[in-house]
Amino acid sequence: MQFIRTGSRALSRGLRPVISIRTTPHVTHLRSFTASYRLGAATRLVAPVNKSQIAGYKTLFAKRFSSTVSATNVAAATQATAVEVKVTKPIVAYWLYFNAGLIFTIVVVGGLTRLTESGLSITEWNVISGMKPPRSQKDWEEEFEKYKQFPEYKLLNRHMTIDEFKNIFYWEWSHRMLGRFIGTAFILPGLYFASRGYMTKKVAKQCFGITAMLGFQGFMGWYMVKSGLSQALMKEPGAVPRVSQYRLTAHLATAFVIYGSTIMVAADIIRQHRLANGRITKDLIRAINNPALNRFRTAALFMLHFIFATAMTGGLVAGLDAGLIYNEWPMMGEGIVPPKNELWSNHFVKPGDNGKWRNLLENPTTVQFDHRTMAETTAVLATGLYLYSRRLPLPRNVKVASNAMMAAVAAQVTLGICTLIYMVPIELAALHQAGALTLLTANFWLVHTLRKIPVV
Ligand code: HEM
Repeated sequence: MQFIRTGSRALSRGLRPVISIRTTPHVTHLRSFTASYRLGAATRLVAPVNKSQIAGYKTLFAKRFSSTVSATNVAAATQATAVEVKVTKPIVAYWLYFNAGLIFTIVVVGGLTRLTESGLSITEWNVISGMKPPRSQKDWEEEFEKYKQFPEYKLLNRHMTIDEFKNIFYWEWSHRMLGRFIGTAFILPGLYFASRGYMTKKVAKQCFGITAMLGFQGFMGWYMVKSGLSQALMKEPGAVPRVSQYRLTAHLATAFVIYGSTIMVAADIIRQHRLANGRITKDLIRAINNPALNRFRTAALFMLHFIFATAMTGGLVAGLDAGLIYNEWPMMGEGIVPPKNELWSNHFVKPGDNGKWRNLLENPTTVQFDHRTMAETTAVLATGLYLYSRRLPLPRNVKVASNAMMAAVAAQVTLGICTLIYMVPIELAALHQAGALTLLTANFWLVHTLRKIPVV
């Protein structure tokens, strides 16, 4: 990690600014090294270490120096006494991208676990001992016996054989093992990078926040499973043994937030690094900071929140198995809107409720209608945003991100409709879930490419 310091003393003396570069204490071989450069003038080295090192440093710092100048607003430097630019090593970003890939994978595995109705097969939560699957026939029989005590077996799976049980067990076990692996893949390299000073304080804090969210997600996963294991389901007439749609949606939301935070932090690191190395041209900075893009910037951010909200209504559809009714599109029965008494039914009102609001969250018809409406609105808004983008002077990377978002919306809506029409086949439903995350990725990308670049 390098600290690049721009001072204004020289400016106040009528000279051009002096840039001094020093290194962090953990980079021991550079500890005592300081270099001063006068803009446009010859390089002067102070306290050199040895001849061959000096040659290397000259090249290195000449590179850093030119990049700093391109990112430095000289007028601003005259007002501030010193501006410090600190960048995180790109390897940290690659590690975060790798972890984001793992999170994407676990979301899909989680979806498959739900779609194969495997999520309630492991009835305990043991972080360490739970890693070992049953080995002997006796172990399997014991595990199966545990499963038999819970409503899913009693109400739905009385015919299940031990081999069928092994199949659902392995889905849930793989999901949990992947979760443990992700936790480790975050914590161990994270600690290493932080201890070696590869990250700025800000990035270290962000990584710590993401790791804390991962811990919370592990808890959420178990909290969700517990709702499906509740013995109270046995007493409810017509109850379906499945997890609470609220907890499933909260689990999905946390996964999306963790994923989004991870890719945004990674993208920021890469951008900061490219800036510090002068690999972002002045023209690009000017094009991105162009006030003509302000409205588009806000709209892209709004779109991100809207897609997230649409995905959450999708979580409710999945949680209530609401994709198994009204398997047609664009109609829902006789019309585009189902009958009002079905959408706004008294059946879902609980004692003490103020109005029929519960239909929005618990009535499968209303929940599916909401998801359709939100998804269709997402498609219309995204198309509008795309058409608007074509009239703007966008840099190439923003254009590519905008095109990617448009393509992802079109694919996602098509997948959603197919999932519904074909009555939620596992493959399509899993693709639809992955599509939601792909669409969010494209939108995060767009939002990031549009982020203003502060001119120091
Ligand atoms: C921007 C568009 C859309 C987004 C972001 C989106 C997002 C989602 C998400 C995140 C889920 C939950 C998946 C899970 O937890 O397994 C879901 C489920 C679902 N969505 Fe969408 N969706 C969109 C469009 C549509 C459309 C247009 C339809 C149909 C008209 C649709 C029908 C469904 C169905 C039936 C499910 C339940 C599938 C299941 O049970 O696994 N979606 N959607």
